[in-house]
Amino acid sequence: MIDINKIRNNVEQIACSTGEFLKEQQAQLHQSDIELKGTRNFVTHIDTEAEKMLVKKLGELIPGATFLTEEGTVTYVDGQYTWIIDPLDGTTNYVHGDTPFSVSVALMKDREIILGVVYDPVADELFSASAKGKVTLNGNSFKTSLHQTLTNGYIGFGIPYSLDDRGEKILKNAAGQFRKCSFRIKGSAAIEICYVACGRSDAYFHSGLSPWDVAAGTFILECAGGTCTDFSGGRNYIFNKELVASNGKIHQEIMDKIINNGETNP
Ligand code: IPD
Ligand code: CA
Ligand code: CA
Repeated sequence: MIDINKIRNNVEQIACSTGEFLKEQQAQLHQSDIELKGTRNFVTHIDTEAEKMLVKKLGELIPGATFLTEEGTVTYVDGQYTWIIDPLDGTTNYVHGDTPFSVSVALMKDREIILGVVYDPVADELFSASAKGKVTLNGNSFKTSLHQTLTNGYIGFGIPYSLDDRGEKILKNAAGQFRKCSFRIKGSAAIEICYVACGRSDAYFHSGLSPWDVAAGTFILECAGGTCTDFSGGRNYIFNKELVASNGKIHQEIMDKIINNGETNP
């Protein structure tokens, strides 16, 4: 049996120290440190170093736990406890000297997320939640927004590195709503989902995201009373590369007007 409260405290500290490392290193980043994994998909040696730091420290918290990480510094194997890690979410912002960027850590037990921590080191904002525990931003409780409709909504989204036909259709549907509501691309999915959780924005949608982008943020959002689904309205939003995250109140309207736009689910 693990002590989830103790683990949560430790993970919060580990996310903060890793975030501080990212912040310090951003100031010293040179053009030669920046590589491309694919078109507009940047990576640096800082991503890898931060991931190794996280793997080492988190590995000490639960002996035998496995890891699912973006940079693949450890090989994923199935296990009862799995850490799902994005050491640097928002690398495109990071390499341009921009913000936000974050550290995202989730703990999965038997395929259920039980802990999520997202830290933005520049804003010094720590979002955190654990099963049966409080959901907090820098220690304070929060809730999702009360906004009911797309009209006058404040909606986050992102453009996937691999934009398939479905993803492109969704972006075109969103463009059809430009006169009604305000859209924002912040560039760190983990943070943008937490913004929905704390009521700063009303919803966020994105195709093509990976488990490490969404595992911590979606858990935090659901703990705050929000709703997360895949594009069919189902629960497969961590591993299925489809996410609609909202305050719950405008979820259906987003599904109808942006995700499906009149089409019925397959
Ligand atoms: C990316 C960010 C971005 C999203 C991309 C992600 P990365 O993660 O979350 O907001 O639009 O699809 O891959 O590559 O910076 O870790
Ligand atoms: Ca990411
Ligand atoms: Ca990343």
